[in-house]
Amino acid sequence: MHKEIQPKILYFGTSVVLISTINEDGTPNLAPMSSAWWLNQSCMLGMSSKSQTAQNLVRERECVINLPSIDLIPAVDHLTLLTGSNPVPESKAKRGYRYEADKFGAAGLTPLPSQLVQAPRVKECPVHLEARLINYHSFEEPSSLVAMEVRIEKVHIEEGLLLDPDSNYIDPSKWNPMIMNFCEYFGLSEQRSASKLAPVFGPNSGE
Ligand SMILES: Cc1cc2nc3c(=O)[nH]c(=O)nc-3n(C[C@H](O)[C@H](O)[C@H](O)COP(=O)(O)O)c2cc1C
Repeated sequence: MHKEIQPKILYFGTSVVLISTINEDGTPNLAPMSSAWWLNQSCMLGMSSKSQTAQNLVRERECVINLPSIDLIPAVDHLTLLTGSNPVPESKAKRGYRYEADKFGAAGLTPLPSQLVQAPRVKECPVHLEARLINYHSFEEPSSLVAMEVRIEKVHIEEGLLLDPDSNYIDPSKWNPMIMNFCEYFGLSEQRSASKLAPVFGPNSGE
């Protein structure tokens, strides 16, 4: 039996990412978000256009998408309810957000210089994706949401996640992404079966 409901949110489970961008004064900002999905060498990021991150990304046209594994939940917790917007927008202040100039320090995370973009990487994250903004699309009014298409231009992976040290392939059994499922954090469960796509795109596909 299915039942018709009217859920307040439709967060059916996506990766949590930490986006680093550069503020107008040249300092770095860092924000957790989870409306992110991947297509080929690109990523689509859904955010409020009022967030400091979206404003930085649209102005500077570059960012780093850092992927935390589940052991970084405490750091993500420290970043929750912080904003790089000063003053704090009224709607956020009402929800308990406060301004934080040093998000890296507040979360106990370490900035690492990037190679192609000004925004720093997050050392503690096993995956860093340096990216450039290609396009953005505003959602229909009265929403303030924007979908931002970014192209991944450089991929940094913690070596321990690779199939072997010289490989361009990540071993999915070693990567444990942080998943936001509705408003709670989950990891992935163990692999359930082999996929028919693995021989087509995987390390033994001959490509
Ligand atoms: C786990 C998690 C996921 C989030 N996902 C999103 C998201 O997908 N889009 C969004 O606009 N905000 C999301 N947020 C809220 C932003 O982190 C929040 O708006 C924050 O203030 C952004 O920082 P900034 O204002 O410095 O850019 C998420 C927060 C957390 C903790």
